[in-house]
Amino acid sequence: MLYEKIHIIDNELDAVADIRVEDGLIAQITLHPECEPAADAPVLLPAFTDLHAHFRDPGLTYKEDLESGSRAAVRGGYSVVNLMPNTLPVCSSLEQAREVEARANRINLVRANQIVSMTLNEMGQECSHLLDIPAGAIPFVSDDGKGVNRDDVMEEIFRICKEKNFLIMAHEEDARYSPADLRMAENAMTFRDLQLCEKTGGSIHFCHVSTIEAIQAIAEAKRKGLRVSCEITPHHIFYNAEQARHYRVAPPFRNDEDIQALIAALQDGTADAIATDHAPHTPEDKANGANGISGIETAFALCYTRLVRGGHLTLSQLVQLMSTKPSEMMRIPKGRFQEGLWADFVLVDIAHPYVIRAEEFASRGKNTPFEGVEVYGRVLQTVKGGEVVYQA
Ligand code: DOR
Repeated sequence: MLYEKIHIIDNELDAVADIRVEDGLIAQITLHPECEPAADAPVLLPAFTDLHAHFRDPGLTYKEDLESGSRAAVRGGYSVVNLMPNTLPVCSSLEQAREVEARANRINLVRANQIVSMTLNEMGQECSHLLDIPAGAIPFVSDDGKGVNRDDVMEEIFRICKEKNFLIMAHEEDARYSPADLRMAENAMTFRDLQLCEKTGGSIHFCHVSTIEAIQAIAEAKRKGLRVSCEITPHHIFYNAEQARHYRVAPPFRNDEDIQALIAALQDGTADAIATDHAPHTPEDKANGANGISGIETAFALCYTRLVRGGHLTLSQLVQLMSTKPSEMMRIPKGRFQEGLWADFVLVDIAHPYVIRAEEFASRGKNTPFEGVEVYGRVLQTVKGGEVVYQA
């Protein structure tokens, strides 16, 4: 028995239960309907799944590596991470991806999927390397950090990915507009890719959607039956551009109107997942203009505080967005309390506030605009396959 009379919440359940684990899987869940959960007791959730993280390994390990990134992930309550390919070299082959995954497995803290770039070396010019990868061998491709500016290349990516059953994870930023107007840059490329999605009959996942125009266009595409999904980051709903003045992230912090639209999208299912875009950098790189936030250790607390305590979502809805749905998208058996699924859990304290301190991060990246912010939702313990991989 791993837990007895513990308060569990997933996307549907809210109960007191015993949980028995065998061979890394949930073997039995015994509900205790006669028990009321104590108001200030910790709550057990399915461990989180991050669709979007940067661990910078290989090549940029002075910012983060698989070891420090794994420690950061489990400290944030994550047992699965989907790693972006903008490393050095860029991950542009199945072999490179498998090598990173094998090293992550040896560290044995978090389960990792390494994403392959959708253009060769994220250069935006060609995508024939995708033809070398067997159909279905990888779940995702992405050029995160950059948009694919050439329409003909992007159309070809849609066609190959449809054929091969790879899901495009798109960073939407049209470089023609980036210098002057980052709203136009995100919107223009989002609109183009919705059209390509319709034209090719393919599918696409939009990374870190941040504008009201983009999220409304995605909602409309979903209503039309296009095969689209999207994620929203914790930081884009926590701060507006004024509150995070001078803090660089791509896409940038937006306005209250955008935040309201993003929260509505989380409520009504337009947004499929919350993903961190964990982007560790050194102080020097930040000073030189690097975009990004070291966010995997603050994601749950920021979302719990703003969205659940703020009255916008239930904790079950937050579990759906941080665990159930992203796990489904990664085609892995986790994300709810159900016998036979992976025994991946996170124990959280939602009753007592704490203050975010970057110096406590396990990540090598201490770059956060949330230093000193008081939040609720401290991760107390993370379990992967029935083993404790993090203990506060
Ligand atoms: O802020 C960001 N940082 N956005 C991205 O899309 C890329 C990321 C990075 O790699 O640093």
